[in-house]
Amino acid sequence: MSNLSKKRYTITSALPYANGPLHIGHLAGAYIPGDIFARFLRLNNKDVVYVCGSDEHGAAITIRAKKEGITPREIIDKYNKQIKESFEEFGVSFDIYHRTSEPIHHELSQEFFLNLNEKGEFVEKFSEQYYDEDFNQFLADRYITGTCPHCSSEGAYGDQCEKCGTSLSPTDLINPKSTLSGKTPILKETKHWYLPLDKYQPWLEKWLIEGKKDVLKSNVFGQCSSWLKSGLQPRSMTRDLDWGVDVPLKEAEGKKLYVWLDAPIGYISATKQWAIDNNKNWEDYWKQQANPADNSTLIHFIGKDNIVFHCITFPAILHAHGEYILPENIPANEFLNLEGDKLSTSRNHAVWLHEYLEEFPGKQDELRYVLTSILPETSDSEFTWKDFQARVNNELVAILGNFVNRVMVLSHKYFDGKVLMGTDHNATDLAALGELAKFPEQITQSIGNYRFREAMSQFINAARLGNKYLAEEEPWKVIKEDPERVKTVLNVAAEIVANLAILSQPFLPKTAMKLFEMLNLAPQAWQNAGRSDLLSEGHQLGAVQLLFDKITDEQVEAQLSKLAEAKANNAKVITPAAPAKANITFDDFVKLDIRVGTILEAEKVAKTKKLLKLKIDTGIDQRIVVSGIAEFFKPEDIVGKQVSILVNLEPREIKGIQSQGMILMAEDNDGRLDFVSPHTSIVSGSTVR
Ligand code: MF3
Ligand code: ZN
Repeated sequence: MSNLSKKRYTITSALPYANGPLHIGHLAGAYIPGDIFARFLRLNNKDVVYVCGSDEHGAAITIRAKKEGITPREIIDKYNKQIKESFEEFGVSFDIYHRTSEPIHHELSQEFFLNLNEKGEFVEKFSEQYYDEDFNQFLADRYITGTCPHCSSEGAYGDQCEKCGTSLSPTDLINPKSTLSGKTPILKETKHWYLPLDKYQPWLEKWLIEGKKDVLKSNVFGQCSSWLKSGLQPRSMTRDLDWGVDVPLKEAEGKKLYVWLDAPIGYISATKQWAIDNNKNWEDYWKQQANPADNSTLIHFIGKDNIVFHCITFPAILHAHGEYILPENIPANEFLNLEGDKLSTSRNHAVWLHEYLEEFPGKQDELRYVLTSILPETSDSEFTWKDFQARVNNELVAILGNFVNRVMVLSHKYFDGKVLMGTDHNATDLAALGELAKFPEQITQSIGNYRFREAMSQFINAARLGNKYLAEEEPWKVIKEDPERVKTVLNVAAEIVANLAILSQPFLPKTAMKLFEMLNLAPQAWQNAGRSDLLSEGHQLGAVQLLFDKITDEQVEAQLSKLAEAKANNAKVITPAAPAKANITFDDFVKLDIRVGTILEAEKVAKTKKLLKLKIDTGIDQRIVVSGIAEFFKPEDIVGKQVSILVNLEPREIKGIQSQGMILMAEDNDGRLDFVSPHTSIVSGSTVR
């Protein structure tokens, strides 16, 4: 248990971009695991700082600002507030939730840059970078998309392919397009400061591959070794952007630090601010100590798309600086899917935390419980509303809630809520208490190995034990002939409840509070778990409270139809328009002879679904055109309608009919068609140009 044996811990969860609300995938990736771990360490009296904050720089912010038509400052203020509130509501117990837009962070990031620059760590290079001529702007990272050279998926970004996780340079992309103009960008020269990751490769191999093979989770280790195998390249630490931390050099005016340089430094600046606010020394948590045994243990909780930055880039920066500790572990999670599909912000296929809080008020622990039970710890996993309902109803309500409720209600009914001792513990009692005493160590082992799902199921097994004990001892029957025995049974049961209260603290903070209130007991440290003398004889229990209630079928259906609605809506609204085709000359254009025509007759083409045969008055003549619009228009509805028709298209035979020309139609992303028609009635044969 080496990772739980230290005295001081610096725990981080990835700084979310303040460019949109959080969804369940965020919670399951970096925040629930980090929170369980931090709470657990605190319960074990460790010296812990757990830091997070908003990542407020980079193109993630400016692109969002452009989309919403407001300034980057307005974007970060809006989403920082919303995100912070969601974390508070779900009980994610950061010691500080900071922001990378704070001056203290800008200063520290610049200090890091200057430190490395003065040591000559950066390689300064002029290079050709993509530039959007329409927008007069260099295109950093997220402003370029294209095809990933590794996995061939579309929509890879200039710094990373999110499908396969590979980190990229913009020039690696096949068929690059500017996200500003949609056009193919040109290359233009600019100067940047590169971190020579190739130079650190031998060190990284030693530290990470040799040093951490038995420490890292296999999904993390696998990704790292494959990057190192393919050879690291220098990475630019500066950008031509107008939003971010200024590069603190005269000759770099107008340039900003790369967001993946400044953001992880945000962990440190957050700690600095926390130390100021709490009268601590931030260096205790980040700097190497005179005696290495005094170093804090640094652990980064992240999602899998952040692995390269936390395992390679940031450690290389810390190493190059020289005074800092390095992460002990980076227990990254894989992705959480939703109802058979990837979570997607842009397609609105998500469960948003701020909406969940409105729709399921007070049910934060229910979501924490279910997400913890399905964390994507070793491979992608899936959230479904049916499964959510089943886990809440069959586990939280039927096992934990039911057990606690029976103990409380019976104790009040028979003994005015007093914990009493009747006859001595019999063999069954001792067996149950013996079983109970094993859980704390099992859960400790699981949490220490970042196996939170396993830890959660051990916790519910402890509640199961209580339920089983009560079902077998049947105090509601025994009360008639042997009230003394019932005192003992409810005493044992209350001790199990007290243990559940302690054990629930890392996972279910609201529930833990309620349990301690019901027990009328102060919250207890982890070391008291396993004991069976937590409640003294004559102890007065508190009032009964409801822990959980059932999730109804209607609630599940409402959520499913909400997702279905989003699916129906998003294709139309959000799919971006296809980029423009190559330019043509005016001469090319005037070759097209487009006229206003009037539909005289319309009928379905036999044995086809899509085709209508139209007779059209073109002003020049009356002619037959076959058009693929039958799915959208009934013949009787379009007679008399005026349309645009390309009259000099070579005649073609379609289903045995000579079609002379083509009706111009507008087509949306779903393939829905509509006519391109004049607003008012105009004489047939009028030209369109
Ligand atoms: N904002 C990044 C993301 O959402 C995470 C930044 S983590 C930090 O993917 F280390 F840079 F802080
Ligand atoms: Zn890829």
